[in-house]
Amino acid sequence: MCGIVGYYGPQNPKDVIIAGLKKLEYRGYDSAGLTVLHQGQLKRVRAEGKLKNLEQKIIGEKFDGHLGIGHTRWATHGVPSERNAHPHQVQGVSIVHNGIIENYLEIREELLARGAKITSDTDSELVAHLIAEEVQKQNDLLKAVQIVLGKLRGAFSILAIWEKQPDRLVAFKDGPPLVVGLGDKETFIVSDVQAALQHTKKYIYLDDREIVLVRGDQVDIVDPTGKQIKKQIVELNWSAEQVEKMGYSHFMLKEIYEQPQAIASAMEPHIDSETHSIRLKNVGFGTAPQNIDQLNTLVDWEKTCATLKGINKVMIIACGTSYYAGLAGKYYIEQIARIPVEVDIASEFRYRKPVLQPGTLVMTISQSGETADTLAAIRLAKESGATTLSICNVKNSTIDREAHGHLYMNSGPEVGVASTKAFTSTLVILNCLALAIGKIKNSLSSAQEKEHIQALLSLPSQVEVVLAYDKYFTEAAESLKSFKGFLYMGRGVSYPIALEGALKLKELAYLHAEGYAAGEMKHGPLALIDERMAIIMLAPSDELYEKTVSNLEEAKARGGKIISIGTGENEKLKKISERYLSIPKAHWSTNPVISVIPLQLMAFHLASSLGYDVDQPRNLAKSVTVE
Ligand code: AGP
Repeated sequence: MCGIVGYYGPQNPKDVIIAGLKKLEYRGYDSAGLTVLHQGQLKRVRAEGKLKNLEQKIIGEKFDGHLGIGHTRWATHGVPSERNAHPHQVQGVSIVHNGIIENYLEIREELLARGAKITSDTDSELVAHLIAEEVQKQNDLLKAVQIVLGKLRGAFSILAIWEKQPDRLVAFKDGPPLVVGLGDKETFIVSDVQAALQHTKKYIYLDDREIVLVRGDQVDIVDPTGKQIKKQIVELNWSAEQVEKMGYSHFMLKEIYEQPQAIASAMEPHIDSETHSIRLKNVGFGTAPQNIDQLNTLVDWEKTCATLKGINKVMIIACGTSYYAGLAGKYYIEQIARIPVEVDIASEFRYRKPVLQPGTLVMTISQSGETADTLAAIRLAKESGATTLSICNVKNSTIDREAHGHLYMNSGPEVGVASTKAFTSTLVILNCLALAIGKIKNSLSSAQEKEHIQALLSLPSQVEVVLAYDKYFTEAAESLKSFKGFLYMGRGVSYPIALEGALKLKELAYLHAEGYAAGEMKHGPLALIDERMAIIMLAPSDELYEKTVSNLEEAKARGGKIISIGTGENEKLKKISERYLSIPKAHWSTNPVISVIPLQLMAFHLASSLGYDVDQPRNLAKSVTVE
């Protein structure tokens, strides 16, 4: 997911920008760049790969001036390359962008028809062209940006500068986060406060559809019509622990909000964003975790292909939230790779004398890599002669060391007992694994592969958009207080997400909730439904949507009170539901990652408002290392 740093002030913009981008490296990226207004000219340097490549290119370069913008790019449209890196610059206008311009194809056609010289494959460059066209007419950057915003559809945040207004910086936020840091006669506009924390503790958090105009040391916030908006200035007086929590009230909330970069870090090693193809990196079958980084990636991929080619069944074993991720993995692997998958709870598997046929890959999922039941399960599988593969978040953990092959959630330390970012990172890893097995077994066409990869690359920005809707999930959480029971339901790959949502409410708010396959309602749960039973239904626009709506109407007819989660503006769901929560349109395989976010946040906000210890719920431990 992209990182943005903008600066106006007395310091050297290049230094402020590079230091800020380094603080944003956790967001995952594949190229970087900056532009500084240097002696009246926009001086731009960009580089593919990590920030050190950009720093190498600017050694010895002279930068003076007061104004600059910088960017780390997570490629969604256009491969990682210098020419696709931001900032994009057209006729004295330079911009950086985070998010997705949905109508970029029609904009590209219109610009080409007007003779625009388009030099990259990105949607972002088109914004620079549009602003450059308008600023010639308006002779003012803010006016040009306001007009261009009316031409764009999607979820995006943009920073723009123009060499003819050397004291101006204009920014716009709609979806991906942007925060304004207010220093002493200097202003920072960043994706995350971490990029400016060393300079100031005073911030304005932008809401969607707000525009920032920096004119020298004056900062104004306006709406798209230019009307002034009064914003609260937040002073971040953080303790050391709060810096660790990055200002969030709880580790769990921080980890929920880290999910865009967590899932980006999970998928990044395994996706070749040049060719939009899947290639698992350093699974290391037969290699101990401490030696994995020394592997030759191409040689390892050949070994992984040989190993996975020989399997004819996958057995997924885990506990709790990791088990629900495994259930989603069944849908991914069976639908994409067309091989049978069985999923089992580790504490059952280890005692039921399982029969493992030859050619079975036994895969464990464990955030901690220390869960006793899951460890026992992988040991039993190895004794039975099965090839084993671990998905975990802690490298060199016990389970990781026991497994033959290794995949990592890469989501960073997860402190909150209730698992969130590890769960969504696991869904992404399972998606990548299913694509790899499908490719190896020739059950996935290259067109399907590209379709899935594009959906995955768009996911971090889509998750950011959902997180921006948090105020609606807070309101929904409040409405749950009037119920005595909770039925979470979904169909297809949404069914495991319903189970996970119910678990979040149980373990955080200590309320009895049940996850159910929506098609099962008429086989019993329908008897439970009355006005005191809350129904939380996952109803994304996928191939089972119509059937899900029928299930909702069955519940509604019996007085059920419904909270539904669906794609975009959906009048039918709004009509049936007491409360409708919208999520962005996505691919069937990425809907689960997006639709679990509202469930995580509803459980978090309800538990917080009840005064419970969200990071350390009663009776629970982060890692259950005993039976
Ligand atoms: C999830 O919110 C719980 N903390 C719990 O169910 C957890 O997922 C389970 O104990 C498995 O832990 P692991 O992933 O570390 O093996």
